[in-house]
Amino acid sequence: MSQRTLARRDESVAREWLNDAVIYQIYPQSFADSDGDGIGDLPGVIDRLDYLEWLGVNTIWFNPCFESPFADAGYDVSDYLKVAARYGTNDDLERLVREAKQRGIRVLLDLVAGHTSVEHPWFQRELAASGPDPAGDRYVWRHGAPAPPKNDIEMPGTPQWVESPGPRPGWYLKNFYDDQPALNFGWANVRSDEPWRDAVDDAGPIRNREALREIMAFWLDRGVAGFRIDMAFSLVKDDDDLVETLQLWSETKHWLDDHYPDAVFIPEGVEPRATHEPAFDADFFLAIFEPHAALFDNGSAGSLPWTSHNPCYFDDAGRGTVQPFLEAFEQAQEGRPDRRIIVGSADHDFGRLASDRRNGASLESAFVFLLTWGSIPSIWYGDEIGMRYLPDAPDVEGAVCYPTYNRAGCRTPMQWDTSANAGFSSAPADQLYLPIDADPSRPDVASSRDDETSLLHLVRRLIQIRKETPSLHPGTGVEVIGDGYPLAYIRGGDHLVIVNPSSASSTVDLPQSDLPLELISNDVRVADGVIHVGPRGYAIFRLG
Ligand code: NOJ
Repeated sequence: MSQRTLARRDESVAREWLNDAVIYQIYPQSFADSDGDGIGDLPGVIDRLDYLEWLGVNTIWFNPCFESPFADAGYDVSDYLKVAARYGTNDDLERLVREAKQRGIRVLLDLVAGHTSVEHPWFQRELAASGPDPAGDRYVWRHGAPAPPKNDIEMPGTPQWVESPGPRPGWYLKNFYDDQPALNFGWANVRSDEPWRDAVDDAGPIRNREALREIMAFWLDRGVAGFRIDMAFSLVKDDDDLVETLQLWSETKHWLDDHYPDAVFIPEGVEPRATHEPAFDADFFLAIFEPHAALFDNGSAGSLPWTSHNPCYFDDAGRGTVQPFLEAFEQAQEGRPDRRIIVGSADHDFGRLASDRRNGASLESAFVFLLTWGSIPSIWYGDEIGMRYLPDAPDVEGAVCYPTYNRAGCRTPMQWDTSANAGFSSAPADQLYLPIDADPSRPDVASSRDDETSLLHLVRRLIQIRKETPSLHPGTGVEVIGDGYPLAYIRGGDHLVIVNPSSASSTVDLPQSDLPLELISNDVRVADGVIHVGPRGYAIFRLG
């Protein structure tokens, strides 16, 4: 058993509220449908704010809710300043922000920074032009045919050229799907033989940088608390060490500091770890490409060619190892203990916490970990009741982006109660955004609330404990004293957490002679200086 101490954070950093955040991620189309069209909407979310307040979360992150043709479920924006009609109106969003605030809940939006939809007026204008447009250059165009892609795995997310659908001749650079043309933020290397490579301070890139600030200001002025930035690291092209991209974001952050000092912004994925001043307020640690993401998931949203197939640590069979996660977390904070790190239960691109490798009991230990580790927790809607990933969910709005990678399975409608459509919508079942889990024993919020022993009640209790216990917040240090099964760690010097996701019993030495005070526990007992942890046992102790 190794001992490692993960660094403490410098308390003087700004946006302190983020330390207390428990994020709840809402997929707007799948949360609650108030008007019976089969698709979730903002008034539906407003109706459910009491539930979120009861649960105790204090920050909502919405996936994009703006005008869009929905080729990629809203990650293809055609108007950044307008809520998509299917979700409601800008007034609904403002009302939601106000009503959430009354309940102590902040709202984060998703800013798709790297690309627009082909239907965005900026793109339509450039498409209609016969050649360069003095007010344009928002996108990247080339005349000659590009070389065929070198990569034999045609996966969205690698910049590639798409032939213009006309009238403008040539090809445009895409960022993800063909319908998502990359916004032009310039290139790290300008080359005379490739004249489409603008420098980062050319007119088009500057126009786009300013547009990002205008969009942010528009929504921040309406009360939102900040943004998750989609594909934040895709902006400047050919930027191997992301020097220019991070410079762009640092400048944007300084602008935020000056104008909206309480607003946060958080990139998709992991900000490259270097000694530079962090350009973001926090980042997401379990990025799908990272081997340590096998903490919770080893590719249950389907296999990507590079997905790690290592067993998960939070796996009933207890075959996994937590080492890659611990090492990566330690490295992530090395030299910069002030970096805040978000660990999510899952998200819209990932499997869910509940899958065939974890039953109800080991979901409990996963949540004990999520809400007590030295990171900011993010809960993907429905994970708190144990909704499961549905492997055969139909491909809706670009959900399947690689033949074996189906994101629809984690995007199915929230299960509220035992009524028709699980209380999600009054629409006929065949008109729902995605089908509801057909399992007759599927979990739902109402039944879980009625059952004091449910996962939902545990999650709520853990959020309360976290709120009342500053030692469990990020930045107070994590001392790992058991790194197998169970995982045992001390937070803030005075709280011991033990989780045993596996189905075998185990032990860990008591780190003090006095009996600790138990805040919560399941199948854990202390005898003769040893802590005995049963299958899927867990506990949080206050040390004397
Ligand atoms: C990352 C988002 O999380 C994903 O859902 C989306 O498809 C791509 N970016 C493209 O915007």
